[in-house]
Amino acid sequence: MARPTTVHVCSACGHSEVRWHGQCPSCGEWNTMAEERAPARAAAGGGARRGGRAPAAAARPVALRDVRADGAPRLQTGIGELDRLLGGGVVPGSLVLIGGSPGIGKSTLTTMALGLLQGSGRRTLYVSGEESPAQIRLRAERLEAGCAPGALDVPVLAETDLDAVLATLEAEQPEVCVIDSVQTLAAADLSGAPGTVGQVREVATRIMEVAKRTGAAVLLVGHVTKDGALAGPRVLEHLVDCVLQFEGERERTYRTLRALKNRFGSTNDVGVFEMRDGGLVQVLDASARFVGEATRAPGSVVLAAMEGSRPLLVEVQALVSPSELVPPRRVVNGIDRNRLALVLAVLARHAGVGTGTADVFVNVVGGVRVDEPGADLAVALAVAGAARGVVLGGEDSPTPVAAFGEIGLTGELRSVAHHDRRREEAEKFGLGQVISPESAPTLREALRAGAVGRRVHAAA
Ligand code: TYD
Ligand code: MG
Repeated sequence: MARPTTVHVCSACGHSEVRWHGQCPSCGEWNTMAEERAPARAAAGGGARRGGRAPAAAARPVALRDVRADGAPRLQTGIGELDRLLGGGVVPGSLVLIGGSPGIGKSTLTTMALGLLQGSGRRTLYVSGEESPAQIRLRAERLEAGCAPGALDVPVLAETDLDAVLATLEAEQPEVCVIDSVQTLAAADLSGAPGTVGQVREVATRIMEVAKRTGAAVLLVGHVTKDGALAGPRVLEHLVDCVLQFEGERERTYRTLRALKNRFGSTNDVGVFEMRDGGLVQVLDASARFVGEATRAPGSVVLAAMEGSRPLLVEVQALVSPSELVPPRRVVNGIDRNRLALVLAVLARHAGVGTGTADVFVNVVGGVRVDEPGADLAVALAVAGAARGVVLGGEDSPTPVAAFGEIGLTGELRSVAHHDRRREEAEKFGLGQVISPESAPTLREALRAGAVGRRVHAAA
């Protein structure tokens, strides 16, 4: 009898079964069994262990000193922020996963990168399982006229069959290839639908094999689910060399590209882009933009954030309004909801700013996400200013107030990394007052420094 060519593997515990189960018989998790190709085995009979097969020749390890590491030079896409995130350009033979929600600009960014590379004489290939060549051409026309001359010269392949894509890769030998997206390709010999864990893993693994062999750098586009995880392909994060995450909101112009995993550069770095008519434009002076657009109204404060190794000034806005709802609404954009809950609790308990009967909305302007405890103080100041209806720093202070710092559960402020660089950035952009743990040891004192303390309010 022929051996089954696929097995169903539990993504939680790794247990495998020949047939599919809704619940893993081993660990009891539901909906975790995904179909995969059965591992190739030596002839049946268990002869291998008893000497049925010649023992493998021992390989010889090499001292790291003697390993050649010069490798092929990196390919620069010419999109400075992308090259910087990748640590200086695309590494030949590497796999880069670019994740992001639909409409964020993944196809635009990758088409631009290929266009610029093609324009500088590199061999490229754009594989799309999502759009027809005509659709891709429409985008390329906009980019050709805009920021990526060369976009119309990129060879495209509209294909969803993995084997056809691999054969094309072997035949065309592109130096850089885009797969848009990894969820739309499928291996014909796996029965799962495209986008299932088994398919995605198979697609990525086999593309990686070809990439390593031919030296092609591959940019894999991946969709993310509603809760922000890369759909299915958590598995992919282990496999690929870099994971870049595209964030921001579709309706807004600013997008950030963040390195979550990076074998060739630093993680946590971000690049800021703006979606324009002719493609994505890098925003190099992001702090200046965000400060320039900052409002001078109650509930607004400038957060001196760190995005990886770079300081970034962003405006945080809060709105506090009386609510009939129990519990009242807590709506956040760009910060973590649980972090807001903590800030509100400390504000109420240790600084006399109660919001128990009010809806609280907090927004980081420009669609930027700040996921660091250093944002706490700015959020607290914005909420306090909004709750009390006072402009931070006082009505006649000429510039917005900047803030950063972590808030502890007892109302103390804690230092965060790079406080000097944050302060310098704020000073560079002309923000006169910077409130931080270095200048105010407790939240109460920070409120006083920002002129939203109780006394000032009573006097006003
Ligand atoms: P797209 O790159 O297709 O997003 P994704 O591949 O991540 O789903 O396009 C994102 C949006 O950007 C789309 O709504 C159209 C818009 N866009 C521009 O504003 N300017 C442009 O030059 C291009 C090509 C697209
Ligand atoms: Mg797309």
